[in-house]
Amino acid sequence: MIVVVRLSVNVDHVATLREARGGIEPDPVAAAVICELAGADGITVHLRGDRRHIKERDVRLLRSIVKTELNLEMAITEEMVNFALEVKPDQCTLVPERPGERTTEGGLDVIKNMEAVKEAVKRLREAGIRVSIFVEPDDEQIRAAKEAGADRVELNTRAYSEASTLEEREMELERLNHAAHVAGELGLGVNAGHGLNVRNLGPVAELPNLLEVSIGHSIISRAVFLGLEGAVKEILEVLRRKTGQ
Ligand code: PXP
Repeated sequence: MIVVVRLSVNVDHVATLREARGGIEPDPVAAAVICELAGADGITVHLRGDRRHIKERDVRLLRSIVKTELNLEMAITEEMVNFALEVKPDQCTLVPERPGERTTEGGLDVIKNMEAVKEAVKRLREAGIRVSIFVEPDDEQIRAAKEAGADRVELNTRAYSEASTLEEREMELERLNHAAHVAGELGLGVNAGHGLNVRNLGPVAELPNLLEVSIGHSIISRAVFLGLEGAVKEILEVLRRKTGQ
């Protein structure tokens, strides 16, 4: 069986660089075009409440030029759900957001926020938008994502990617494997992301039921030295080697 694991490139950091000078370049929209030309299967952006990198303008332009899939990471606020309903990305990934955090710090606590998550999922799905929820690789959170009506879960690979010993990495990979299996049994699609790079992606690419990986920081970092096209292509090579695409 041919397993196709898609690569969605997160271009937030291109906007971070733009905002460092408050000007108009580099443009995350241009980055998205290059990622797609290099073979990426999707583009991800996170529109944060404080708009510190990606702006509404970026998401609207991306909606009209992305030819693969546009994935919008967003908090479960009324403002974000309304914006998503207007722009209609192909997929919304629900994430927790803490003002001032450097990056998303962990999975969404679906159990604690069940009513709000259910409401957001319902509104987005009724508009034909696929909904994924960023969660820790934890059975209870995955079951809660199913109960909330999600189509997919995105498993947080942060603990795996930050493991400092081989044993710890092995243990975190096992947690991811188990979580991906549980999600599949429940009929949920599986995405994965956070901290993935050309060196640690291989074992993650072989998770059961995996449909998509979302990678931002390492691709944009390596693009500084290798060019964006080269940075996307080397990730695609790992994915294709592992999944026989
Ligand atoms: N998935 C989610 C939900 C995220 O919040 C992030 C970080 O923005 C990523 C994936 C990508 O992580 P990284 O930038 O470490 O590749």
